[in-house]
Amino acid sequence: MHISGELILPGDKSIAHRALLLASLSPGRCRLGNLPPGADVHSTLKGLRQCGISVDTDKAETTITGGSLRMPEGVLDCGNSATTARLLTGLLAGTGITATLDGDESLRRRPMQRIIDPLRLMGADLSGSSGRLPLQLRVAPLRGIEYLQEVASAQVKSTLLLAGLGAMGPTTVREPLPTRDHTELLLTYLEAKISSSGDAVTIWPLQSPLPTFSLELPADPSTAAPFITACALLPGSSLRVPGLLLNSTRVRFLEILEGMGLIVERGHQWRSGGEDVGDLQLEAPRDLKPFCITAWEVPALIDELPLLALAACRAQGVSRISGAGELRFKESDRLHAICQNLTRLGALIEELPDGLTVTGGAKLQGGRMTSAGDHRMVMAMRIAALIASGEVILDECASLAISCPDFDQRLRTLLH
Ligand code: S3P
Repeated sequence: MHISGELILPGDKSIAHRALLLASLSPGRCRLGNLPPGADVHSTLKGLRQCGISVDTDKAETTITGGSLRMPEGVLDCGNSATTARLLTGLLAGTGITATLDGDESLRRRPMQRIIDPLRLMGADLSGSSGRLPLQLRVAPLRGIEYLQEVASAQVKSTLLLAGLGAMGPTTVREPLPTRDHTELLLTYLEAKISSSGDAVTIWPLQSPLPTFSLELPADPSTAAPFITACALLPGSSLRVPGLLLNSTRVRFLEILEGMGLIVERGHQWRSGGEDVGDLQLEAPRDLKPFCITAWEVPALIDELPLLALAACRAQGVSRISGAGELRFKESDRLHAICQNLTRLGALIEELPDGLTVTGGAKLQGGRMTSAGDHRMVMAMRIAALIASGEVILDECASLAISCPDFDQRLRTLLH
């Protein structure tokens, strides 16, 4: 079995959230092409509608007419999406909106203190029960602050930048390690006053509404990652991926797979909405080398680490991941979940407090897997099933709807 063909993917989920949120600050008719169909982005879209923003979607494009955010009727249900819960809180705090934000059982377990503390320093009237959802936000004037984040999190950084758009004076956010910079790039593209220098990014309050914009969203590298991993693991595979987002804060997993042996040919490259985009041609390697991933690169592959742990099972030697403790605070405790699942398949994998050690070469058999309700875990296990000798049974696959509802169909089309 191998995979071959062309992988045409929906737009990047992280950029989609940000583009929707920023469009809500533009009084014109903004247009987004290739909006991803998953439930997470829908949570942001629904939340904005509840706050009075007109959002029309059809298959080809989404149009948003913003500029008039108002107090929502009812609770804003962010579903499973931490990006929605955190970034929407920042946006609403900056625009002086009273709202309650909540989410599903998994999102209610995710840490929110990391946004509550800095937003309160800015003057926000925000409360949450022991640092979790539901969050209650009441109107309060915000002032700009200088804030050093404890955790490297693009979501926290973006929350503060969005809040800063409506604060008095500049807001500076410093991060311990570089994280995805889509908020900064889109705000720069939209000519907001923003500057980045070293580990700091500063935003100034908006003096006038954001301009109307039109964006075609580039293909999501995190959705591409399972298919690319399959290409690396199945001998004889080849895959063309057109229009992929190539932002360096997102494609570290591709560089790691390339270091392992995956053949990556970079074709035509261009810029779209301030982001690097390009076409890739990938070919399976003969064999795979192990890798060593340390803290500085973890934010740039945070959602792809379960897949890399799987790839490490096929490498000739010992692969190590360290400085990845943040994985325990995702949709599931991903360090524990991937270790437990791969161990059940017969992999030689050890769970460490902040990472994993994987000794490659063990033959993977079949087994029963638990996704812990995590869409990224389901995708990793779907790819594990392709290289396991026995049947791999998953407890659920409904959570694929979070980011890629038609994942199975896409995989079937590529498998030969
Ligand atoms: C995201 C940032 C990451 C990532 C998440 C999406 C974003 O989370 O895991 O899937 O869109 O900003 P953190 O920034 O909290 O690590």
